[in-house]
Amino acid sequence: MKSFVSTSALETTAYGERIAAHLKGGEVIALIGGLGAGKTTLAKGIARGLGVEDEVVSPSFTLIQQYEGRLALTHIDLYRLDGSEEFEMIGGEEFLYTDGVTLIEWAEKIGDLLPKDLKKITIAIEENLDRTITVEGITL
Ligand SMILES: Nc1ncnc2c1ncn2[C@@H]1O[C@H](COP(=O)(O)OP(=O)(O)OP(=O)(O)O)[C@@H](O)[C@H]1O
Ligand SMILES: [Mg+2]
Repeated sequence: MKSFVSTSALETTAYGERIAAHLKGGEVIALIGGLGAGKTTLAKGIARGLGVEDEVVSPSFTLIQQYEGRLALTHIDLYRLDGSEEFEMIGGEEFLYTDGVTLIEWAEKIGDLLPKDLKKITIAIEENLDRTITVEGITL
């Protein structure tokens, strides 16, 4: 487990790029943190680090967005999802078993469907609005 304190969105994207350099493919990563914590900001950095050239937008309405890079990236945002049943109905499960990288915001909504070797990145907003970013399951 490793922690990093980010003082700006720019630092968070840069940290995301650093994380991406250690990804090999096949990782499913839960991005954990409250509203506005910086989950999508970190996802943008991971995408950049994976060589994704398209602009990464928040998938809060589309639920699932895919990008091409050094590794294929799937970015999922389950904020508007009811639960596991709905996720299965939209065919979401196939995105949990790819040879690319899958990032999931609000992954706790489908807790029972998540793979055993789920990686976790937690972003906590500190009192001074810094973000403490904790990485579990990925060797940095
Ligand atoms: N250190 C920081 N790291 C990340 N974002 C920061 C930081 N400091 C300030 N911010 C701001 O916080 C906001 C984070 O928004 P972002 O969309 O990444 O959050 P989110 O966790 O994805 O939110 P949501 O739950 O709505 O999806 C941005 O406006 C960003 O500029
Ligand atoms: Mg978001």
